[in-house]
Amino acid sequence: MKRIGVGLLGFGTVGGGVYKTLRSQEDVILKRTETLFEVRSILVKEKEKERSIEGVQPLITTDFDRVLESGVEVIVEAIGGTEPARMYVERALEAGCHVVTANKELMAKHGVQLERLARHHQVQILYEASVGGGIPVLGTMGHFLKANRVQRITGILNGTTNYILTRMAREGASFEEVLAEAQQKGYAEADPAADVDGFDAVYKLAILCRLAFETQVSVQQILREGIRDITPEELELAQRLGYVVKLLATGEQYGEKGPVSLGVSPSLLPISHPLAGVEGVYNAIHLEGDVVGDVTLVGRGAGERPTASAVVEDLSNLFRLPSPKLPLSDSMLLPAGEAGGSRFLFMKLREGEVPEPEKLRQKLERIGLEVVDVVSARGGVAFILRRWDPSYTSVVVTELGLELSQIVSRPVQGGGLCQEQQPEMEGVV
Ligand code: NAP
Ligand code: HSE
Repeated sequence: MKRIGVGLLGFGTVGGGVYKTLRSQEDVILKRTETLFEVRSILVKEKEKERSIEGVQPLITTDFDRVLESGVEVIVEAIGGTEPARMYVERALEAGCHVVTANKELMAKHGVQLERLARHHQVQILYEASVGGGIPVLGTMGHFLKANRVQRITGILNGTTNYILTRMAREGASFEEVLAEAQQKGYAEADPAADVDGFDAVYKLAILCRLAFETQVSVQQILREGIRDITPEELELAQRLGYVVKLLATGEQYGEKGPVSLGVSPSLLPISHPLAGVEGVYNAIHLEGDVVGDVTLVGRGAGERPTASAVVEDLSNLFRLPSPKLPLSDSMLLPAGEAGGSRFLFMKLREGEVPEPEKLRQKLERIGLEVVDVVSARGGVAFILRRWDPSYTSVVVTELGLELSQIVSRPVQGGGLCQEQQPEMEGVV
């Protein structure tokens, strides 16, 4: 049996969950890996804070040097944000420690340099928990899709926003009320703006993009739209049209080593779409590989136990699975397309009137727009329009002549996931 000393950085939802999981799963981990992981030191911000887990107080410190000096071979980083997390991770790697982190912001912004530093010091940095909570997506991509070129990724990558949108749609609950609940359940980031404004999903998409397309992108370049402007009225009208609204992350590469387009935005999925039923804190990542075709991974995307599971799986794999080699290059980034596809248009009306949908349809068809469907309710109207162009918005507003208090437009995804038939493999009989 090997004994491995672990230093925990952060003892909140994730750090606490890792500590508890290492204890509760000690027997099974020992049996399967012949390794005993012992937490020897825990770094926190506030030493005096009351900790609900018994027996940890003697391990708690606010001094990172003390962690490094406590006989650790692995550092688990669960602080969040870039600083001081980056500085601690760098120091840990330089000191010859392996690192396991749940920090997507850190890995999206500095992952390439940190992986390089880890290789230089002949240690590993693993970050399965940073994308999709408990879903083993990075391991699957890095180890079990080596022979595939991934062409497209579609994902629900943020548990907090999926939880909020699900509850708003199902119960008409208010955004603020459900966000407070997501925070209380430990799903949200320390600053929940990271969730609701789409930053968290952007970080996760940037990490997936490295693995899927071997392309390094700066997070600022990724199209980002959050969910703050979504109302229960909009969700209700989308539902009446046969759709659900999800914060969707999409990535696509056009040809081998070709340009990529990446974006995070609220999007409509037909209720028949495989990701439409992914509700609550669940996340889903759908990949399209050139050999395997469609692969969808679904699981809990946030919260103490799923996240701790991913971190502890990384710990268990540290001395077993090599880090995948990524020959990264820069690809041209195309703007995630607005024009050409189908679009959902929701208009909130100043007056509590219920406009006659057929009259509205006729008005838009008269000016040449392709209206797939239209519904109205007290105070709101929604359309599905084909072959959309952003410049049409002002034309629609003028033509309808309604008193609006809000207008939003969202992309509409098709009914399935795989866009085309798998080609037969040439030359193989
Ligand atoms: P959290 O509950 O807010 O815990 C953060 C911990 O870090 C606290 O123990 C805090 O200390 C400590 N800390 C904060 N600033 C520090 C500093 N300057 N020096 C030392 N310690 C510091 O956060 P969390 O939800 O566990 O998230 C941690 C990381 O995991 C983030 O990167 C997050 O994105 C990621 N993650 C979270 C989830 C989830 O479901 N929550 C899922 C996947 C990934 P005190 O206890 O003294 O305040
Ligand atoms: N705040 C994140 C989410 C945690 O809600 O998805 C998991 O990364």
